[in-house]
Amino acid sequence: MAGPLPAEIFFDAATGRVEPATGHYVKRLSDLAGMFRDEEARQRDVAERGDPLVYEVAEYRQERCDLFLGTTTMQPGNVGGEYYMTRGHFHARRDRGEVYTTLSGAGLLLLENREGRIEVVEMRTGSVALIPPDWAHRSINTGAVPLVFSWVCPVDAGHDYGPILEKGLRKIVVERAGTPQILDNPAFGQTPA
Ligand code: F6R
Ligand code: ZN
Repeated sequence: MAGPLPAEIFFDAATGRVEPATGHYVKRLSDLAGMFRDEEARQRDVAERGDPLVYEVAEYRQERCDLFLGTTTMQPGNVGGEYYMTRGHFHARRDRGEVYTTLSGAGLLLLENREGRIEVVEMRTGSVALIPPDWAHRSINTGAVPLVFSWVCPVDAGHDYGPILEKGLRKIVVERAGTPQILDNPAFGQTPA
């Protein structure tokens, strides 16, 4: 059997389109229950704004290749002042890292390790973030346009969403007078109802 073959994959920096793509999914605000500090505002926005798109992920992978890659495209917006963000996760395998490269837009990558250490990496065109093994990572669109980034990850990394779903991260990012502020998460450690 032939192994994986070299490939050129095209990423559209403005839209996040991946050509060719082997997979794609979207996350709408209704998919993100319990993630924002103002759950009522999230539910109101789902009902009154037609369940807006928050982010989408497109990927390319080949069988028996150790890496896969893709893009995440995040819409601008906020819930009660808290910027749109991804769910955030640890990798299931604690020895697997990842690389994020920002293609367009502006945001923050919030990272937290098992000991509760926080790091924030700015996301702007051309910035490359190294996510070491066993650091939870969540991306946040703090701009007025879509935030598009590419990622490259070992296929066996897997996702562990549990710790963040149960406890949240120690920091949240909110808009104050038009600029992003990184605040302590008042609900950290509380499992959403
Ligand atoms: C894969 C990875 C990204 C994210 C994507 C969505 O390991 O980090 O592809 O999966 O940006 O974020 P989550 O999965 O946290 O909703
Ligand atoms: Zn990841």
